[in-house]
Amino acid sequence: MYVCVCQAVTDKQISATIAQGATTLQALRNELGVGTCCGKCARDVRSQLRQECGGRSGCACAGRN
Ligand code: FES
Repeated sequence: MYVCVCQAVTDKQISATIAQGATTLQALRNELGVGTCCGKCARDVRSQLRQECGGRSGCACAGRN
């Protein structure tokens, strides 16, 4: 499913990038371009990051799950 329509980025691409070590929205932005156009996807991307990072050390969501 597309999460970022502007950049045509899917939830699977975001999951793969998180699995490869992305721990912040900025990292996902740099890697995939999410949130760099209209910004409407940022909340959903952040939510997915929180669910999938597993509280990894260095994750921006640490302590908020
Ligand atoms: S939907 Fe992601 S930047 Fe517009």
